[in-house]
Amino acid sequence: MVSDKVNPKTIELIESLKDKDKIRVLFVCLGNICRSPAAEGVLRRIVDEAGDGDRWTIDSAGIGRWHVGDLPDKRMRIHARDRGLELTHRCRQVRPYDFDNFDLIIGMDSQNIEDLRELAPSPEAEARIIPMGAFLPASSNYYFIPDPYYEGSEGFELVLDLLEEACRDLYATLTPAR
Ligand code: 4NP
Repeated sequence: MVSDKVNPKTIELIESLKDKDKIRVLFVCLGNICRSPAAEGVLRRIVDEAGDGDRWTIDSAGIGRWHVGDLPDKRMRIHARDRGLELTHRCRQVRPYDFDNFDLIIGMDSQNIEDLRELAPSPEAEARIIPMGAFLPASSNYYFIPDPYYEGSEGFELVLDLLEEACRDLYATLTPAR
């Protein structure tokens, strides 16, 4: 994890999560039909392949409510399927009580982070917010996951590449040494 630019309280929280039996993470993007449901699918596969599925609760939600109830965007489902991932999440909007039900709330871009901060009901809740880019290497050209909605195929492939890299780091960061 790249720790500069991350709230020191969030770093403390991440350290404490390593010792917990259960970890609950919520991915958040604008529409909850492209980036965050893809992140959910990518991380789910990583934890399942590691035989660690019971420890993790993984969900996703959107800042906006335009697509509530919908499956992920067809283009994202097609690109994910090409990588062997079936995305079946149904879109939902993020709610203040999500801060009670999840240990980490991971925003895809800077606007998501700003919107989540507005929603956070307390400073403790705010410390649960972290940008997905914190799990990309310091050498990456990206600190946020760019919105692919108005992009072509390359935009969706880029998002999936970044999510795979970030989710591997997220999993390693929160998994105690065995
Ligand atoms: P996402 O992409 O935030 O990655 O799900 C978007 C999906 C829908 C819209 C914007 C971004 N929209 O404006 O409807």
